[in-house]
Amino acid sequence: MPLITWGPKYETGLNIIDEQHRGLVDLINELNEALVEERGKEVMDRVFDELFNYVHVHFNDEENLMKLHEYDDFAEHSRQHDIFTSQMDMFRESFQDGSKVVSDEVLEFLRNWLITHITSTDRGYISLFKEAGVK
Ligand SMILES: [Fe+2]
Repeated sequence: MPLITWGPKYETGLNIIDEQHRGLVDLINELNEALVEERGKEVMDRVFDELFNYVHVHFNDEENLMKLHEYDDFAEHSRQHDIFTSQMDMFRESFQDGSKVVSDEVLEFLRNWLITHITSTDRGYISLFKEAGVK
């Protein structure tokens, strides 16, 4: 049973964004599966790293679109991305120095953050991007 089941309520209707959001959901589910199936720290660290890198790719793409289309809430939106990436940095450091491992709490945080962000903050740019012809 996946931790997050993708559904229409998460869609923005913008293909590039939805595809990346689905990619993030898939990686969080994969991380959860690795934890549940006790695949070990090495596997969990590798999947976490993949998620870490993909978060950066996605935020970068989203922020570039916001800048390109002069989104008026860019500052607040990118601030939220920055807070999340700082948290991801902290997780990564604690996994690397061995003081912490991926846990239910970490997964719960990732899941809640992503779902809340997708269903609230990300909604703000949809009409602007659509009007600008973003597919
Ligand atoms: Fe975002």
